[in-house]
Amino acid sequence: MINPPIALYYMQGLNTTAVHAHGALYGVYGTLGLGLMLFCLRAMKPNLIWKEKPIALAFWAINIGLMLEIVLSLLPVGLLQTYQSVANGYWSARSPEFLQTTLMQNLRWLRMIGDTVFAVGAIAFVYFALGLMLRRKARLEVPVPVPEQV
Ligand code: HEM
Repeated sequence: MINPPIALYYMQGLNTTAVHAHGALYGVYGTLGLGLMLFCLRAMKPNLIWKEKPIALAFWAINIGLMLEIVLSLLPVGLLQTYQSVANGYWSARSPEFLQTTLMQNLRWLRMIGDTVFAVGAIAFVYFALGLMLRRKARLEVPVPVPEQV
């Protein structure tokens, strides 16, 4: 959506950029970072039984939160700015007169819904990771299978 020259002519630096930046940067490198962290945690303590509820909550909340941030707030603001840019000129899409309208203010406040869901996911992830690192071994470890003597 943002890549063709004609789109960039009207849209560069509007909220459509933030849509792409949030979706791509978090979607690619944020999730990759979390995935690699889990991979390392698993390798550090291979016998520990994982509590899957917090990590499942983190997965869904982070992904749904990011989606809500984009769909409820960033994208609508970006599309309205694009319309404004095409209709009245790029300058007007970034002008305070346009950005401070009630509709725009409300759309920016809608970010809170996605942000909150995302934050719940982030907290669940930290809770899970800390729990894994601090948990006492004895109770929750799977016994290592001893290979049978032939
Ligand atoms: C790993 C994949 C990607 C990541 C993490 C990423 C990240 C970003 C970020 C953070 C920005 C905002 C930069 C700024 O305004 O300071 C941006 C802008 C941009 N990206 Fe990507 N991007 C990715 C892939 C792509 C791909 C595949 C395309 C096109 C096929 C693309 C096209 C653009 C364009 C055209 C802009 C400028 C948009 C504007 O200023 O309005 N990006 N990207």
